[in-house]
Amino acid sequence: MRVVMIGTGYVGLVSGACFADFGHEVICIDKDAGKIAALEKGVMPIYEPGLDVLVETNVRAGRLAFATDPADAIKGADVVFLAVGTPTRRGDGHADLTYVYAAAEEVGRLIEGYTVIVTKSTVPVGTGDEVEEIIRRVAPEADFDVASNPEFLREGAAIRDFKIPDRVVVGAETERAFAALRELYRPLFLNETPIVAVNRRTAELTKYAANAFLATKIAFINEIADLCDVVGANVQQVAKGIGLDKRIGSKFLHAGPGYGGSCFPKDTLALSRTAHQVASPVTIVDSVIAANDRRKERMAELIVRAAGGSVAGKTVAVLGLTFKPNTDDMREAPSLVVVPALINAGAAVQAFDPEGMDEARKHIEGVTYAENVQGALKGADLAVILTEWDQFRALDLTAMAGELKERLLVDLRNIYTRAEAERAGLTYVSIGRPA
Ligand code: UGA
Repeated sequence: MRVVMIGTGYVGLVSGACFADFGHEVICIDKDAGKIAALEKGVMPIYEPGLDVLVETNVRAGRLAFATDPADAIKGADVVFLAVGTPTRRGDGHADLTYVYAAAEEVGRLIEGYTVIVTKSTVPVGTGDEVEEIIRRVAPEADFDVASNPEFLREGAAIRDFKIPDRVVVGAETERAFAALRELYRPLFLNETPIVAVNRRTAELTKYAANAFLATKIAFINEIADLCDVVGANVQQVAKGIGLDKRIGSKFLHAGPGYGGSCFPKDTLALSRTAHQVASPVTIVDSVIAANDRRKERMAELIVRAAGGSVAGKTVAVLGLTFKPNTDDMREAPSLVVVPALINAGAAVQAFDPEGMDEARKHIEGVTYAENVQGALKGADLAVILTEWDQFRALDLTAMAGELKERLLVDLRNIYTRAEAERAGLTYVSIGRPA
């Protein structure tokens, strides 16, 4: 099939490359000429494991190409995906659909022959109706359908998530559109990936409900972790004890410094706004948002408490800045709240992150960025693990204890055990695992 991907951001680029790998002919469009030029040279705009090789292989095979001008590509396309950004709108927290609507209008003017226009961006319920109206307005004679096909990719594991998904959700209003999307995903159905074929609004809402539910699991276990600290229980064991119940499931029950990233914070907020707008509030989601925001502030308070009530004049080594490992994404990362709070409290911060420091420099001022873990620890009083990068999982804790003046490690991701940290001579503070 001939596929056009409008928007070569995270979702568009990964999906485009994967569809090409399925054997389709894919053209990825982006208005950012610099980005397209770089992609043509094989330079990826984001860090995602395996993506460079996937892009290169498919470009070489002639199945994947990039362009800034959509005109030629769209004329011959069977399916056009809208994968442009839907950031949080300043002021009111709604999803900003400016880019989606602008892309819809442009696509509408260009399509020839039957075309399925599919929203891949996370868009509020009813956006598909709006997209359909826009296209109908600019191209009254056009033969098209508008479908919704939300993505469930995790950064850092996106290619795997695309190729071996738990399910594919497809929302459409005509059999013709369903047939096109089934054909597009055919390689997945050979290995029996379930397809959830529903109406367009249901597909749109499914995406928000999925992210809100996962965010709820995290916020829930984080509150249980705090309770564990107070009552002397162990949150990892509680998580195991509840997670083995298949109705609950073991994933997304890791307590930590609060969820971040470009999806959970944005999508929970947008879902809440939509729900309030139609007077059907999602009070649980509202609580999740508030609890998670507050949690990031409380992590800084926890570090200060662990350091004996003050970090003024002390040097804190911060290991990890990105919102999770295997990404350079800093959006809504707990570090964006925790690090400035430590600096405000009078600390000097020496930070190291394997991939996120270029981004971090744009967002957090007053930090000394180190070349490696040793550089961050050098001369520091205490250390904090903020992101569970693999390379932080096997640190020489004895050397760390020798370097840190207060011999204090605050592990906000629970990647070590108290026993091993104490054996190395460290005072160890973690989440929901009291002494
Ligand atoms: C999330 C969803 O997992 C994807 O299914 C979805 O497609 C994507 O959003 C999206 O809407 O585009 P992502 O934001 O890449 O993916 O990252 P996750 O791996 O889900 O992690 C989100 C946050 O939750 C991170 O800050 C992570 O540290 C935190 N988390 C996750 C926990 O604190 N505990 C856990 O047990 C799991």
